[in-house]
Amino acid sequence: SKKAVLGPLVGAVDQGTSSTRFLVFNSKTAELLSHHQVEIKQEFPREGWVEQDPKEILHSVYECIEKTCEKLGQLNIDISNIKAIGVSNQRETTVVWDKITGEPLYNAVVWLDLRTQSTVESLSKRIPGNNNFVKSKTGLPLSTYFSAVKLRWLLDNVRKVQKAVEEKRALFGTIDSWLIWSLTGGVNGGVHCTDVTNASRTMLFNIHSLEWDKQLCEFFGIPMEILPNVRSSSEIYGLMKISHSVKAGALEGVPISGCLGDQSAALVGQMCFQIGQAKNTYGTGCFLLCNTGHKCVFSDHGLLTTVAYKLGRDKPVYYALEGSVAIAGAVIRWLRDNLGIIKTSEEIEKLAKEVGTSYGCYFVPAFSGLYAPYWEPSARGIICGLTQFTNKCHIAFAALEAVCFQTREVDGGMTSNKILMQLQADILYIPVVKPSMPETTALGAAMAAGAAEGVGVWSLEPEDLSAVTMERFEPQINAEESEIRYSTWKKAVMKSMGWVT
Ligand code: G3P
Repeated sequence: SKKAVLGPLVGAVDQGTSSTRFLVFNSKTAELLSHHQVEIKQEFPREGWVEQDPKEILHSVYECIEKTCEKLGQLNIDISNIKAIGVSNQRETTVVWDKITGEPLYNAVVWLDLRTQSTVESLSKRIPGNNNFVKSKTGLPLSTYFSAVKLRWLLDNVRKVQKAVEEKRALFGTIDSWLIWSLTGGVNGGVHCTDVTNASRTMLFNIHSLEWDKQLCEFFGIPMEILPNVRSSSEIYGLMKISHSVKAGALEGVPISGCLGDQSAALVGQMCFQIGQAKNTYGTGCFLLCNTGHKCVFSDHGLLTTVAYKLGRDKPVYYALEGSVAIAGAVIRWLRDNLGIIKTSEEIEKLAKEVGTSYGCYFVPAFSGLYAPYWEPSARGIICGLTQFTNKCHIAFAALEAVCFQTREVDGGMTSNKILMQLQADILYIPVVKPSMPETTALGAAMAAGAAEGVGVWSLEPEDLSAVTMERFEPQINAEESEIRYSTWKKAVMKSMGWVT
């Protein structure tokens, strides 16, 4: 049968904490043509530790590419129309691998991992000069969340990593670097790079000069030769070279030309290009980013200053303020995998709808301590306000409510959940709008890839940006009720703090 003719297509890898996706968009209409998604395992070898297998992550990317290409074939769409590929990824998660064998030297230490708590404590005692040393250069508080301390842990504790560093075989990267290196040939000439947004989450990157910072590397004891080259978020990094994976090999030679940490990608995909425009993304965690333009704005209220995007080598850098919530969708996975009160994540909406209230039950899912605005690693999860009347539906409701309360605290995939969006409007007491196409993270990566110099199939001029259709949720409770619920939530948060001493 004849293949349908379309404009140039752009693919995007969206490698999140919970799953990997590959999606293909039409660059002229931003329409999502096909995609495939694979869930990723998480390992919890000890209390507070969270790891993933870098090879499983890589193979999930191959699988998603293969399956998406198959689906495009079934739609009679010619995959040779795919002109560029963008990568967006879970940020901070740390991988060290051997450039000669291509083998990871340890599991990926995931951003949520808390093993570096004591490293953070001892480092914070010897911060040089004023206490602002790390934050003024990186925009970040010294925390277990960011890559530098995870890398420090690997250097201190994993013999294979130490040996590879001594023998000059070690490469460090966040997931974007690991994927781009592997997808551009790996041991056969893979490109070792990252983009400014991902680099800005390592705690080793100076967000003013946009370079690795020598003083920070000395402070954390990180050898600079293992760090990737830092590039803009939109330029050709290299060409796809994965012929050993037969079907994914169909994209052989296509440029990889977009790279953004997933939250930055979502800011781009939601078209937040103006100062003051903000988006909130509900994934494993929940991250509210507000574009602050070319200026680094520092917060006294626990928000991070981070690189938003730099869409081209010669294009200016944009910064963002970020409110980070560690546990959002992860609480639903926990209800499914650890408590077993739902079988699929979607079931939570049905359960919560049955009761329509938490009946005074509050659930603070501080599984990995609390991020913004507290930055309190000693907090742990609590469920409180229980009575004999409380059942699993109330707990499900309280879990959804927790996501919204946490978003309110930072001032500010789960969006298909209508109860959640309505609750968010009620708890923030402002209207919430959500795009009808939920894959904005991948869209942002695809836009960056398609707009890159030498690719040029996607225009980022405002008049060319497709009109994104939005669904709107208005608050349905009164302001007083919203305040009462929020202040009870605050009480519950206080109880979760200082649990670990
Ligand atoms: O900083 C972590 C963040 O990038 C993870 O995103 O989508 O996996 O919750 P997500």
